[in-house]
Amino acid sequence: MVEIKYGKARVKLEDTNLIYEPAEDSFLLADVALKEADQGMRILEIGTGSGFVSAVLLANLKDISLIATEINPHAARCAKINGLELIRTDLFSGIRSKSSEKRFDLILFNAPYLPTSKDEKVPGWLNYAFDGGINGRETLYRFLDEVRGYTRPGGKILVLISSITGLEAVIIKMKSVGFKTDILERKKVSFEELMVVRGKLL
Ligand SMILES: C[S@@+](CC[C@H](N)C(=O)[O-])C[C@H]1O[C@@H](n2cnc3c(N)ncnc32)[C@H](O)[C@@H]1O
Repeated sequence: MVEIKYGKARVKLEDTNLIYEPAEDSFLLADVALKEADQGMRILEIGTGSGFVSAVLLANLKDISLIATEINPHAARCAKINGLELIRTDLFSGIRSKSSEKRFDLILFNAPYLPTSKDEKVPGWLNYAFDGGINGRETLYRFLDEVRGYTRPGGKILVLISSITGLEAVIIKMKSVGFKTDILERKKVSFEELMVVRGKLL
């Protein structure tokens, strides 16, 4: 098993044929999340993969409560090995309570964002790491349609997107579901630009 060292965090990584291997997108989201998170926050990460981003937060911040979800059973197991409280589920489905005291201060998602046709799908569970549907935004839009119900008033969401995903379309969607948007970070990586967009619940 490979171990990734990232600041104070040590993240174990099982088979990368089955699980998304943390890359520039994961690192960018982790760095921004560290700046946006505060002690005492209740945090949710959707689609945690190996658990990398959440493990970085847990290693660096005291007194946070953090829950993560993941659909891929191999990734879910790896995230548990990395010490996360993990719910294996589709997006928010396994999170029962939307009562106001149970809502989250900060919700993170590095969504699968590659525009993917039927012929381009990767075999097995790993496909969930990449496949954003025909326009690259299908899973992200499903997330955005639900996320407000899990965010406390004044709370924040951070989404990692790529220039491939289409920034303008994502911003319009985030505004339509009630968030004030800001682009917090941008990084050019080979053929694409990665961005972290923050939504603040109005
Ligand atoms: C681009 S990877 C990011 C993984 C990890 N968060 C990181 O930054 O390294 C997207 C992750 O979301 C998961 N995922 C995709 N669709 C999902 C869904 N509907 N519900 C839960 N997790 C999902 C994938 O299995 C994959 O682990």
